[in-house]
Amino acid sequence: MNTAAASIDKRAFRNALGAFTTGVTVVTTCDAAGRDVGLTVNSFNSVSLEPPLVLWSLARSSGSLPAFVEAEHFAVHILAADQEPMSNRFAQRGADKFAGIELARGEGGVPLLPGCAARFRCRTAFRHEGGDHEIFVGEVLGFEAFERAPLVFHKGGYAVAVKKRQPPPTAAAPLPNESPEASISRDALVYLLGSAHAMLLAAMRPALAARGLSDDDYFVLNILSVGLPRTVEQLDALMGLAGRRVTLQQLAAMAQRALVRPAAALAGGWQLAEAGTRAMLEMAAISKATEEDALQQIDYSEAHLLKHLLRRVIRNTWRGEQPALWPVAG
Ligand SMILES: Cc1cc2nc3c(=O)[nH]c(=O)nc-3n(C[C@H](O)[C@H](O)[C@H](O)COP(=O)(O)O)c2cc1C
Repeated sequence: MNTAAASIDKRAFRNALGAFTTGVTVVTTCDAAGRDVGLTVNSFNSVSLEPPLVLWSLARSSGSLPAFVEAEHFAVHILAADQEPMSNRFAQRGADKFAGIELARGEGGVPLLPGCAARFRCRTAFRHEGGDHEIFVGEVLGFEAFERAPLVFHKGGYAVAVKKRQPPPTAAAPLPNESPEASISRDALVYLLGSAHAMLLAAMRPALAARGLSDDDYFVLNILSVGLPRTVEQLDALMGLAGRRVTLQQLAAMAQRALVRPAAALAGGWQLAEAGTRAMLEMAAISKATEEDALQQIDYSEAHLLKHLLRRVIRNTWRGEQPALWPVAG
């Protein structure tokens, strides 16, 4: 064992273990003085159904060790996909990790955290020595499961879980009488993104029409709602990305309706005016509702992944010389 231990490169070992994808939990307890204690843990695992047992391991170097050794109870919280900040907070040493969190209490006064995907209240049934870690085996006294997508940890970083659908996604099957080229373009990213954009915009068009806004008006208002004043040339260059143009006459017509006005901060620049700001606030709510409709039957993790991948497509296709509405992260 000594020879093997000596020949194992710690970093490589840790990296290889990182290939095993896990969820992320926060394990909490209450120390003898009644102080709340907790830490982020991904060594959690199920052990037995009958009796219901779970386990996790705690580094002997952890400041929380004495509290967990002495306490009779602990709680395991399986974090939800949006609880990355919670994971980071409980992975810090010492800090007051519970500040500002609305807690419930379990057996032995153990603090129970909100917002997780599942929560197990446990009694410490056994402890085992596990090298530089102490293994805690907990008997589950009670649990709650919530319909929330889990946070995932893989290769040293956070991830989201996306279910593989059956059958797996494949290229579009040719329709009867369809040429092979047509079925390829039906599957092309530019077609898929273009159609998705056209459909989303079409769904919002009645709301735009009700406010007397054309697509072009809406594009201009969108650009200006970022908060920077823009000249007509800058607006035209940004609109050009979507194959659209904007002229001074159009801006003057929008100004007459108090949608835009000349900006004091930039010579020849334009900014949102009162009616434009109001329209954009209303349209933001409509755009959110349209997005929710479009994301039906797409769960949190898939939607998160979709947006993440779209950002990457934008980054990969941005050629540097094109104007960008927002900074394109490198
Ligand atoms: C994703 C993730 C998983 C972790 N898993 C464990 C674990 O299983 N056991 C452990 O002792 N520490 C684990 N840690 C590290 C502790 O959370 C970290 O050392 C924490 O500062 C310990 O807090 P304490 O010193 O206040 O006890 C993990 C950290 C992260 C970010």
